[in-house]
Amino acid sequence: MIIGSRAAERAQAAAGELGHGIEGADNAETARRSDVVIVAVPWDGHGKTLESLREELAGKLVVDCVNPLGFDKQGAYALKPEEGSAAQQAAALLPDSRVTAAFHHLSAVLLQDPEIDEIDTDVMVLGEARADVETVQALAGRIPGMRGIFAGRLRNAHQVESLVANLISVNRRYKAHAGLRVTDV
Ligand SMILES: NC(=O)c1ccc[n+]([C@@H]2O[C@H](COP(=O)([O-])OP(=O)(O)OC[C@H]3O[C@@H](n4cnc5c(N)ncnc54)[C@H](OP(=O)(O)O)[C@@H]3O)[C@@H](O)[C@H]2O)c1
Repeated sequence: MIIGSRAAERAQAAAGELGHGIEGADNAETARRSDVVIVAVPWDGHGKTLESLREELAGKLVVDCVNPLGFDKQGAYALKPEEGSAAQQAAALLPDSRVTAAFHHLSAVLLQDPEIDEIDTDVMVLGEARADVETVQALAGRIPGMRGIFAGRLRNAHQVESLVANLISVNRRYKAHAGLRVTDV
């Protein structure tokens, strides 16, 4: 596993803290050396980052987890990307990659807490190709407590990305790191 960064030394420092043989590299090298690439940058830098990595990401399975959000005095709110969603922007910018979208609702706080060994949540996985969706579902399923659930094609990514604004409201009111469960599946 490789952590990417705009600066290789930042990635190496982050990887060093995590241990377990995780490596750090700049974003281009990370993309080049990976089969599956999770895109986790702020919405502001999303388009520019992907555009600059088009060649390195060709043929790769890209998992976009970016939530285009704005923040004001009333809290978080969903932005409306021109392409429909961050995932659709990724698909438009990366015509030679296989773009999926997942992990939007997963709390980084829970993920990085070494005391937590199970995360009680489902992950909605969106994509065009069934095999790619299944790969990402399997990735989610590697974390104890978590399931990857198919939640539609990329044209329906906007609602999933936007729902994070609601989860942020939940988290603020209830002092929680809320997740979601899809029932009867
Ligand atoms: N935090 C969560 O719980 C969570 C959960 C699900 C999804 N997400 C989504 O994941 C994305 C990242 O969230 P985060 O909380 O990890 O944010 P973050 O800490 O602000 O950003 C992650 C990394 O992106 C890089 N970055 C920052 N600005 C950038 C830019 N303009 N262009 C390219 N790279 C840039 C930075 O790494 P370098 O400076 O080292 O390049 C930074 O460490 C967001 O779109 C968010 O919606 C977050």
